[in-house]
Amino acid sequence: MTTPILMDVDTGIDDSLALLYLLANPEAEIVGITCTAGNVPARQVAINNLAWLDLCKAPEIEVALGSEVPVLAPLMTTEETHGPQGIGYAELPAPTRALSSRHAVEVWADAARSRPGEVVGLVTGPLTNLALALRIEPELPRLLKRLVIMGGAFNHPGNTTPTTEWNIAVDPESAKIVFDAFSGLPEDRRPIVCALDVTETIEMRPVHLSRLAETAGSTPVETVREEDADGQLSQTSNPIVRYLTDAVKFYLEFHVSHDQGFLAHMHDPFAAAIALHPELGTLRQATVDVELAGSLTRAQTVADWAGLWGREPNAAIVVDTDPAAFFDHLIELVGAFARKTYPPTS
Ligand code: BDR
Ligand code: CA
Repeated sequence: MTTPILMDVDTGIDDSLALLYLLANPEAEIVGITCTAGNVPARQVAINNLAWLDLCKAPEIEVALGSEVPVLAPLMTTEETHGPQGIGYAELPAPTRALSSRHAVEVWADAARSRPGEVVGLVTGPLTNLALALRIEPELPRLLKRLVIMGGAFNHPGNTTPTTEWNIAVDPESAKIVFDAFSGLPEDRRPIVCALDVTETIEMRPVHLSRLAETAGSTPVETVREEDADGQLSQTSNPIVRYLTDAVKFYLEFHVSHDQGFLAHMHDPFAAAIALHPELGTLRQATVDVELAGSLTRAQTVADWAGLWGREPNAAIVVDTDPAAFFDHLIELVGAFARKTYPPTS
């Protein structure tokens, strides 16, 4: 039994690993990848996705361009977090496969309509494409099996402003449209929200990259060190491990420069794992809304845990998980996938 998943991404270093994880996972069937502007402009996001698919020798998967700007806010991108192309220091070969001629909103609507109640939507970027797709298919919340969102910060500081998380901060109007539209669903169909509260506990460290190389049979098994020169590239033999290491090294340096330690928060791969296995997280029901007006708090996600607003819950927020178990699962799958795609020569 596989789970059909539609990914909407702003690839992105951690979006990249989310994609590798789903490609590696025999339980996942990626039915399409829609690209949104966020970490880098949408066209660069599309190139990154196509290039990873090529590198992974993936079967044909539709990659569609979505909105190149948020619905209202001016676009902001964050090359300082994800590198000039969005994939850190990795310089993937130019993709040979082509972008779909369809727009992301058509892909969303079509995927949900063609397999009602089956497709899981996974959004690891701003919610722009989904908000726009709701205009052409308002039944999306009832047609999808479930929606999983990486976004927001609740009882936790933001990573973009003191109270806001990046994916919501880029396009707060779209986030509100989505949370409003996905209200009124039964408990087991409510969007699952992977917010910074839990995704910042998913700390990837150099040892995880070394273990990945080992599992993939990639040599030499390297250990990225904080004192290594910025931009020093991996020499390990397996191309998937090598490019991933180059991407993640940039992310490690970004986190260290923000006093978070030599680690990288793997927000999006965690959300991808939750899309397949919601039981990996402890879920708590809440009513979620998005602040659009506050002069200091615009784009803050607010959770009413106690029903004080008198509105039904519209989200299941992940409040706890086991990060070590998640990394074991990720490394086992992606390592085996890298090994199978590029078998060691000796
Ligand atoms: C989110 O913002 C992006 O920079 C990451 O890819 C992730 O989706 C974390 O706030
Ligand atoms: Ca992302």
